[in-house]
Amino acid sequence: MITSTGPCRDNVMAAEWTMQVSYDPLLIAVFVHPSAATFKNIKKTKEFGVNVAAAEQTSLINISGGYSRTEIDKLKVRNAFNLLKSRYIKAPLIAGCIINAECKLVAMKKLGDHTMVIGKVVAIRYDKTKTPLIYHTGKYHRIGSVIEPFRQVVRVNKITFKWFLDQADGRFVLKCVGALIKSGKRILVSQHTTKNGSYTTIPYAVPKRGSDHAKALLVHLKQSELKVELKHTPIIERLIIKNKNRVQRINFILFEGKLRSKSTEQDRLESVRADALLQAIAS
Ligand SMILES: Cc1cc2nc3c(=O)[nH]c(=O)nc-3n(C[C@H](O)[C@H](O)[C@H](O)COP(=O)(O)O)c2cc1C
Repeated sequence: MITSTGPCRDNVMAAEWTMQVSYDPLLIAVFVHPSAATFKNIKKTKEFGVNVAAAEQTSLINISGGYSRTEIDKLKVRNAFNLLKSRYIKAPLIAGCIINAECKLVAMKKLGDHTMVIGKVVAIRYDKTKTPLIYHTGKYHRIGSVIEPFRQVVRVNKITFKWFLDQADGRFVLKCVGALIKSGKRILVSQHTTKNGSYTTIPYAVPKRGSDHAKALLVHLKQSELKVELKHTPIIERLIIKNKNRVQRINFILFEGKLRSKSTEQDRLESVRADALLQAIAS
């Protein structure tokens, strides 16, 4: 709900086309029809309030979206709105919302039949006890159950877990790029030796953020003196490795390919069945 004041006096309108468009500075865009009283207010006073409706506020949306300020003084409807005083803008805010933001206009641009109105947030409050009201296909909804993104869960031994955990270095998802070179039921592996022991996985690298994954893999393969030919289309394998109660998410971007010549001594083909992680990657 967008609150405003100005030539059309204190007002509120429902605006589902409202979204954050920058972190720093914190900017909010609202798309307002130029015929709305709200539009005239914002154009004149260059400020507005953004009030994100809580699940129990459907009737406020009906009123603010169903009537214009030219028809009734919506904010005065006695059995509907409770107002809060703003600190930096003249328009009031709506009580009981999940978020109230006070905005100063930074840009306005007509796009199609609506006008994009961008405001810089100068004050914001968030009530974490509330849940947002969802408007979808003309109906109101509450936020439902969380959908966990599907990842294959793989139990690994302590050494392997520790290795990937160290590489993740606190990141929620460790992003790897690897070569998937299969020959029948066997797969090309690399041996890794750590101070805790050794283990095998596919040849892989952890590319720097923002860097080209295919190139990072090629560099790694060259350093490992592995002569392989890779296809250009990546595959993604999203895993959770587990050891006792500890978990680490890993994304493997995989490039399939074949050996160009015999591998070096430490890199070889191994049965996919030899290891749960190899099985998960190769599946
Ligand atoms: C759920 C809902 C969402 C709406 N979203 C928008 C919107 O994003 N932009 C817009 O211009 N109008 C939107 N409207 C319509 C305005 O709220 C409506 O035209 C209102 O009467 C304008 O009020 P005003 O003339 O007092 O400013 C929406 C209406 C409803 C019911």
